[in-house]
Amino acid sequence: MFDPSLIKKDFPIFSRNVNGKPLVYLDSGATSQKPGIVLDAEREYYEKHNANVHRGAHTLGDEATAMLALARSVVAKFVGGRESEIIFVRNTTEAINLVAYAWGLDNLRTGDVILSTEMEHHANLVPWQQVAERTGAKIELAKVTSGGLLDLEDYARKLKLKPKLVTMAHVSNALGTVNPVKEMTKMAHGVGAVVLIDGAQAVPHMRVNVTDLGCDFYAFSGHKMLGPMGIGVLWGKKEILTKMSPFLTGGGMINEVYPDHSTWTDLPDKFEAGTPNVAGAVGLMAAIEYLETLGMEQVGRHDREMVAYAISKLEKVDKVKLLGPVNAELRSGSVGFEYMGVHAHDVATVLDSEGVAIRSGHHCTMVLHKSLGLAASVRASFNVYTTTDDIDALISALDKVKKVFGK
Ligand code: ALA
Repeated sequence: MFDPSLIKKDFPIFSRNVNGKPLVYLDSGATSQKPGIVLDAEREYYEKHNANVHRGAHTLGDEATAMLALARSVVAKFVGGRESEIIFVRNTTEAINLVAYAWGLDNLRTGDVILSTEMEHHANLVPWQQVAERTGAKIELAKVTSGGLLDLEDYARKLKLKPKLVTMAHVSNALGTVNPVKEMTKMAHGVGAVVLIDGAQAVPHMRVNVTDLGCDFYAFSGHKMLGPMGIGVLWGKKEILTKMSPFLTGGGMINEVYPDHSTWTDLPDKFEAGTPNVAGAVGLMAAIEYLETLGMEQVGRHDREMVAYAISKLEKVDKVKLLGPVNAELRSGSVGFEYMGVHAHDVATVLDSEGVAIRSGHHCTMVLHKSLGLAASVRASFNVYTTTDDIDALISALDKVKKVFGK
């Protein structure tokens, strides 16, 4: 049985207090907490197997190399891709930068269109701005409706500009909106675009199968899905990755090196220059095993229950104006809101004094916040250990905000 209060016991951090109160962690969208088995896996790697990969003719080197390969195969299976298509990076931001620089600079020209959306976090907008500046390509953003959904009519209209690249969040980090990415990918392929999906907020909460989605690239981070910081994944279609130039160059990704040029090795090493984060990959593998033991279907159901419960409670709180779709079925992972008349950072400070951790600010989505007419908002975000008691604690702590800031 999926019981978040039992699951919480697997996460050592929940034994601590914050400001004299038990920790209520509602900031999993920024980073999730880590179960003991992920911490143990990293520790065991360093205690028993640590060595550099691919290069040592010794036992530890072979073990580290085998562990990295095993982690890659576990990730590949988890998202339905091939092992050679799994590129280990630091995080979603690096994965998107890899596509922007290694694919974008070589494939985009003056006047080409990059189509994205108004709800992207900065990691899926700023790299494209850089590429647009260097290539002369133009960025178009599909609008967000007043109900917090992606405006699919606007998206279809902008596809008529025949973008070379289409990129969108699978799940919005600020609105919680789940975008119909499979349908959007099909539409984008219909006009010949290459499609990159930012899955940072989706992979922790739902079963993702990149082959079923049909996209060309899919990016996600380990640290939001119970894994360690500093390990993330870019999945890309082999046919496209093979044709691309490398992003970072140096050791580990070469075939032959001459004084004036070099040749590259095969996938996935071509995109993994330098010493990889083996401990991170091993920790990510442990996180995936943990999630699979819970069952991704159960994980997804629990997520929707927490979102629905939070909406049902927050919509009754005076001064709270919810952001994003009201229908919990159309969202995942978080509930954002505006506390009218009080700055989001002040709300966060009062909540923190009650041991409740939430995120406040623009959540790396300044374009979205401007389109909503907001400078900042408050976001409660969830993961497998979130309980209805945590959400009740948030609601009680909001009472204190009312007391402190008056009516
Ligand atoms: N994009 C991450 C968040 O939503 C950092 O908090």
